Amino acid sequence: MGYDKQQATEEFNRWSRSYDQSILQWLLFGPSRRALIRRIRQRFGDRPITVLDVGCGTGQFGEQILRSLPNARVVGMDLVRAMLNGGSHRWARHREGLLPVQGDSEHLPFASGSFDVVTCANSFHHYPDQGRAVSEMNRVLKPGGRLMLIDGYRDAPWGWFIYDVCVETVEGDVHHCSRSRMRDLFAAAGFVETEQSVHRGPAPFLFTEGVCRPASTLRRPHFPVTATGSPSAVAAD
Ligand SMILES: C[S@@+](CC[C@H](N)C(=O)[O-])C[C@H]1O[C@@H](n2cnc3c(N)ncnc32)[C@H](O)[C@@H]1O
Repeated sequence: MGYDKQQATEEFNRWSRSYDQSILQWLLFGPSRRALIRRIRQRFGDRPITVLDVGCGTGQFGEQILRSLPNARVVGMDLVRAMLNGGSHRWARHREGLLPVQGDSEHLPFASGSFDVVTCANSFHHYPDQGRAVSEMNRVLKPGGRLMLIDGYRDAPWGWFIYDVCVETVEGDVHHCSRSRMRDLFAAAGFVETEQSVHRGPAPFLFTEGVCRPASTLRRPHFPVTATGSPSAVAAD
């Protein structure tokens, strides 16, 4: 049977107290957060932006964004309350700009078109329905907003050994996407201009970024409106 949310909850309930001290902070989580911050800065500069960090854990990324991009506002969302609680000092320290929310990546508790950027780092392989999660990320982005997603890169032999062998031995039946599978998920959810890069190192990771189709390029149906105001024909092309 596949990995499910109950397993995720149990795993991160156990891990929440020691998470910030894990060696993976040095090997993987820290480098991936730095890559995300560099990219957000490159795309948005110092503009005021709203960021949703899905699977935010203890909120380290949110705090780091606020330090390097003071005009950003960040919502950190995570399935597991114990992980959010593990960062309680961070949420308290940045009441103005950093908000914790408990929720599930497959049912994001936010209105459509709410965010300029959605980030997701080192969390995606835990989601049982990854297609649904990417669609939800697309839904909550403003047109032209960007999804930046990082997860372990398992296409080369070293990455395959780390993620498909070692991580699955420890975490169970999680799923790290191949590069092409990730591209397909982005396309199916409606993202355009998808770019991918691989960050080499002791724990290699795949960075995938896509743009939420801007409003002007959405394939809108032409509705010749009748006298009653209701659409009389649908011709989408
Ligand atoms: C390895 S931690 C990564 C935390 C943080 N993004 C970082 O890079 O330090 C994975 C996180 O994903 C969360 N998670 C797992 N399944 C989730 C789901 N379905 N929805 C939201 N968060 C989830 C876990 O609770 C955990 O906090």
